Amino acid sequence: MPGGPVLVAATDATRVEAPVTLKAYLMCAFAAFGGIFFGYDSGYINGVLAMEYVVHKYTGLDPETTADDDFVLPSWQKSLIVSILSLGTFFGAIIAGDCADFIGRRTTVITGCFIFCIGVVMQTASTEYKLLVAGRAIAGIGVGFVSAIIILYMSEIAPKKVRGAIVSGYQFCITIGLLLASCVDYGTEDYDTTASYRIPIALQMLWAIILAVGLFFLPESPRYFVKRGNLDKAAEVLARLRGQSRDSEYIQMELAEIVANHEYELQVIPQGSYINSWAQCFKGSLWKPNSNLRRTILGTSLQMMQQWTGVNFVFYFGTSFFDDLGTIDDPFLISLITTLVNVLSTPISFWTIEKFGRRPLLIWGALGMVICQFIVAIVGVTTDNDSSTKAMIAFICIYIFFFASTWGPGAWVVIGEIFPLPIRSRGVGLSTASNWLWNCIIAVITPYMVGTDKGNLGPRVFFIWGSLCAVCFVYAYFLVYETKGLTLEQVDRLMEETTPRTSSKWVPHSTYASEMGLTEKGTLQPEVIDDVVRRGSAV
Ligand code: BGC
Repeated sequence: MPGGPVLVAATDATRVEAPVTLKAYLMCAFAAFGGIFFGYDSGYINGVLAMEYVVHKYTGLDPETTADDDFVLPSWQKSLIVSILSLGTFFGAIIAGDCADFIGRRTTVITGCFIFCIGVVMQTASTEYKLLVAGRAIAGIGVGFVSAIIILYMSEIAPKKVRGAIVSGYQFCITIGLLLASCVDYGTEDYDTTASYRIPIALQMLWAIILAVGLFFLPESPRYFVKRGNLDKAAEVLARLRGQSRDSEYIQMELAEIVANHEYELQVIPQGSYINSWAQCFKGSLWKPNSNLRRTILGTSLQMMQQWTGVNFVFYFGTSFFDDLGTIDDPFLISLITTLVNVLSTPISFWTIEKFGRRPLLIWGALGMVICQFIVAIVGVTTDNDSSTKAMIAFICIYIFFFASTWGPGAWVVIGEIFPLPIRSRGVGLSTASNWLWNCIIAVITPYMVGTDKGNLGPRVFFIWGSLCAVCFVYAYFLVYETKGLTLEQVDRLMEETTPRTSSKWVPHSTYASEMGLTEKGTLQPEVIDDVVRRGSAV
């Protein structure tokens, strides 16, 4: 590869990482902005569908002459408008995994922003529910692109020491998106014009434009270039991301290890046809902890468990739940408080996820949630007065605190780390799709559990969420690996050599590059580079 990078392989796995400049940190952190989409989009629709102007316009009912209980959109329309987004997102996340390998991570996210804007324009233009539904489905595909690939992109570009904190920044942006949605809905709900729903809907385009324009100036993931066999570009972007010169030993070492790991994985996971490369995500033994099948199950089930914590019960149905308790003057205010607790508690994870690690956060976070939810349920079924309602609200807020500082960010951090490069983009896409699928399933079944004319569980529903959080506790204890402070390549090795319960004691002891003998006098051999380039261009 004439004029290409001189790749020096690390021989000592514990060598220090490149000191990262502030600018480099900020570049990685910017991508977290993608979380705003996720939060805003999940949050704004409930408020819009409850607006008087919207109900009047979409149903033709007159608020003056219609009884309050009848002045609503038909349930099936409401449910379709809300859940169609998750459907779009589910497919978007899966398709995006493929695109990320073909056109790059960054370009896939920018494409997602574009698709999203088309969907938003349709929704803004809508004056009846059909166009709104179609617009939400298309916007959902865009959100799927963004939500899956931003995680992949951030995990791949972040320096290992702060990877967890940076991906937690994504969760922080989700919470800000949810808060913004409540505030904007609150601000426009009394307008008596189409501005009531058009403003909250159209505003989303701003997030897409900021993200797309910002990403345009950020570099592509070096791991994508390695996968495509473009080592020159990989060296160049890595140098930009770390704020070091491309010939520096740090950059050469990091790149050599990415290349060597990719080579190693390709020996274990040969790439083939398109179908075959999808099939790779499900290959291997169910009993082998590091098999691809196990990693795919781990990523998808972790996101499922995150939804099973019941957090969206509070965000999607909190207002009506508090209303049904009967002793609360302003249920909207309580909802706003839970949303604020969510925003303010998330940044704690920036520090704890790197200091204590992923496992303790998920294990202790689940335990904290179990305790709070059982207290809410027990207080709710045994007493019925002002102070018991206040106690329930307090424990719901503490429960949100535990979610926001542990499982909220933790689930996203872990799915960005557990897949080897050949199946990473699809693995992250599938895991994100699982988040949206369960999000949707829970949103659809919850009204049947709590609706006063249906299951009417009331506060007893917290026994269900509490029990599911107990499952999360056991799940985290037995299945989640400790991956803090390791490069993605070291995580791959960790999963081969240890079990979740012993993973926190594992230390990197060698590198792929040195072990595989890909190097000669510390430099990757020219034939290895040629091989990577040839194979990459054939993908
Ligand atoms: C979850 C969402 C949830 C949000 C709350 C995210 O990590 O995936 O479903 O609404 O956190 O902050």
